[in-house]
Amino acid sequence: MVWGMRILTGLQPSGKLHVGNYFGAMKPAVELQGQGECFYFIADYHAMTSGGAGDELRENVRELAIDFLACGLDPEKSVFFRQSAVPEVNELAWILSTVCPMPLLNKCHSYKDKVAQGISPNHALFAYPVLMAADILLYDSNKVPVGRDQKQHLEVTRSLATKMNESYGEGTLVMPEAIIKQETELVIGTDGRKMSKSYGNTLPIFGEEKKLKKLVMKIVTDSTPVEDPKPTEGSTVIALFRLFAGEPEVATMIADHESGGCGYGDFKKRLAGAYWDYFEPMRKRREEIVADTGYVDEVLRKGAERAREESAKVLDRVKKAVGLV
Ligand code: ADP
Ligand code: TRP
Repeated sequence: MVWGMRILTGLQPSGKLHVGNYFGAMKPAVELQGQGECFYFIADYHAMTSGGAGDELRENVRELAIDFLACGLDPEKSVFFRQSAVPEVNELAWILSTVCPMPLLNKCHSYKDKVAQGISPNHALFAYPVLMAADILLYDSNKVPVGRDQKQHLEVTRSLATKMNESYGEGTLVMPEAIIKQETELVIGTDGRKMSKSYGNTLPIFGEEKKLKKLVMKIVTDSTPVEDPKPTEGSTVIALFRLFAGEPEVATMIADHESGGCGYGDFKKRLAGAYWDYFEPMRKRREEIVADTGYVDEVLRKGAERAREESAKVLDRVKKAVGLV
């Protein structure tokens, strides 16, 4: 553990956890535990910017909390909480808004992409990066592990921290840095595009064996006959297999592609087996967590208490700097 190093990230509760979310966001966060003081939260305010409020939101928050704990988040090592359990984040977001130039938000890709997808933009969607900046800056975060799609939001955060420090004095806010893991940057989905729930090409992490394995069998491949050598470059099956299998198994699969004589059905079966086995410990842990009534609520309650202790210090410093107290 590096004392004084604070690592923070948020995950949106927006449906079933998939392999892309796991390798792109959850696994890196879990692996960073112990390397600093980790603050991990469920971004429920952010989830409201794309609908799904009410019971759906409540359910999604609970599911994500269970999933995150099942995937290795250790509440003894990390502060785990719900974003909305620290409502002070909205106060900081407002203060940040006052130094945020409109053009900085106007150029954000994620907002423009959502509008292009036909989502009718509301103010919260536009202001999304300011709330995200508040999430990060409220805890004096040093490192923020995120996927590549969040890089621009981190730039906005840094820009707002700079503006605050220029306007109200150096040291008002701590300058955070993004951590973007190269090798797991982009997990491919069953159709060869980026795995994403909006493309309907995901492999979920939790679910029924038959259903999950069936999804693997649906992976799009070419029509090379069984006996012929098969291309390995750009192969979705191999790319996914690399995530779940050891080096020797991957080498064998590549050799079997090159030599010919093995069909895609066989490769997909190997992939389905490796995918199912990989998540076996997480499935077991998930069952234990679900059976332990009250455990998740207690973890989140304690996490929020601890998060609020930290946020109070930072917010007080900022409010003094800007003249609110
Ligand atoms: P989706 O694209 O399915 O809507 P989200 O946008 O909710 O997923 O992503 C949640 C987290 O998972 C983000 O940190 C994102 O970077 C990561 N992530 C999502 N899909 C992938 C992927 N295909 N490869 C790597 N990381 C991903
Ligand atoms: N916007 C992030 C995503 O969609 C989630 C998020 C909200 C976040 N606040 C954050 C990530 C603060 C890191 C830090 O993945």
